[in-house]
Amino acid sequence: MLKENLVFLREFLLEFKTTGACFPTSKWAAQALITPLRDQNRGRKNVLELGPGTGSVTIPIIKELRDGDHLTICEINPRFMKALKESLEEMEEFRRARHQISFFEGAAQDLPTDKVFDIIVCALPFVNFDLLTVQAIFSKLREISSRETLMTYYEYIGVRKFNEAVAAPERRDRMAQVNEYLKVSGSLNYLGHERVWLNVLPINIYTVKPAA
Ligand SMILES: C[S@@+](CC[C@H](N)C(=O)[O-])C[C@H]1O[C@@H](n2cnc3c(N)ncnc32)[C@H](O)[C@@H]1O
Repeated sequence: MLKENLVFLREFLLEFKTTGACFPTSKWAAQALITPLRDQNRGRKNVLELGPGTGSVTIPIIKELRDGDHLTICEINPRFMKALKESLEEMEEFRRARHQISFFEGAAQDLPTDKVFDIIVCALPFVNFDLLTVQAIFSKLREISSRETLMTYYEYIGVRKFNEAVAAPERRDRMAQVNEYLKVSGSLNYLGHERVWLNVLPINIYTVKPAA
């Protein structure tokens, strides 16, 4: 736990833009993010995790994997990927499910398009990205989703209002554009959201259909 927090903090300092948080997601937030996987009546699922970091959501995902499921883990930061693989090797459930799991080291927007995913669990820090990057990511997500694909992602509660009040104009404008694209433009079909207060900063977890 301490090692995980230190790795995370180091990447927050070295790679602020892509890391986007100074601590990993809490176990309560992780459970909320993987709600679509916890459905007792679900069939086999092809699952994509975007931005695993040190694995605070990856580990609960792996614990929920059933026979016939497949998990693809996509991470842009090679140091996170290396640390993640090392800690997963120590996990019994990972060793048992290894044949069901594959890794993609690179940007979400560069994922190959040879698979369609049923569930996407996304922890990318959209508020740190420019509009073109967010559009490129969602364009890729639409290519690898069906109309039934469910995606969860999160946003810190109040972060936008806080930035509107204190951020430099360039950051404020960029965040407003990203927010307009995600929430207002209608490019995503929102199914609902859940508030999780037990996280270092409380978060809203959104469920969307990226291709619908
Ligand atoms: C906010 S952290 C989330 C880490 C972890 N899932 C958690 O919830 O604690 C964001 C993660 O997304 C990764 N990331 C950022 N941009 C990415 C991109 N374009 N493609 C893939 N991963 C990306 C970062 O390296 C980092 O691991």
